[in-house]
Amino acid sequence: MLKGLIFDLDGVITDSAVYHLKAWQDLAKEIGIDLPESFGDKLRGLSRMDSLEIILEYGHKENDYTQEEKEALAAKKNDAYIKAVQKMTKADILPKMADLLHEAKAQGLKLALASASKNAPLILHQLELEDLFDARVDPATLKHGKPDPEIYIRAQELLGLEKNEVISFEDAPAGVKSIKAAGQFAVGIGDPVVLKGADYIVGSTSALDLAEIERVFKKAGN
Ligand code: BG6
Ligand code: MG
Repeated sequence: MLKGLIFDLDGVITDSAVYHLKAWQDLAKEIGIDLPESFGDKLRGLSRMDSLEIILEYGHKENDYTQEEKEALAAKKNDAYIKAVQKMTKADILPKMADLLHEAKAQGLKLALASASKNAPLILHQLELEDLFDARVDPATLKHGKPDPEIYIRAQELLGLEKNEVISFEDAPAGVKSIKAAGQFAVGIGDPVVLKGADYIVGSTSALDLAEIERVFKKAGN
């Protein structure tokens, strides 16, 4: 029986993925790497340091920096990202998402956040959504990033629920893999080819329908 919903943040509740990409593009440019728009999809769901690593590899510069220098680069990107995010308001919540969260809450479902972002508390505050969530995984306490299942297992445990009692929402292939490895029902938001492996896929949040998702969840034997 469905008792809780678990959400990724970037690309699911709000389109902060565009701000991540812009901040990485600006940083990459400074060190001589031209990052195309299409790179944004590769960055979805990856931790800050994992994102920097794949950018440096793309620019063939992975051996050019010490760990300390890499941390300084990541901090610089984060400063720019925070400046962008501080301008966000509840108008930046993706279509239908606020309705879905409120509908779930009214049904008595528990809500948890499973975001790899250390900026998640700031973003939830900007979107005025922080009071809706019963639990939030602190990514600083995790050993492994997505696609490892740790973050979704932790979110489910924080809610005190079993894997067949939750539905989890993701926009990233790494995130869908993480949900499935945790044994949970995955709703993918985005390209069905990219998100193959999810149990239910919508092209965008505008197509989300909680009653329909619950029907498919039950039909799958949950
Ligand atoms: C994820 C994003 O939610 O958080 C990634 O999809 C990002 O793009 C990651 O790198 C870490 O975010 P932050 O805010 O801690 O740098
Ligand atoms: Mg995401």
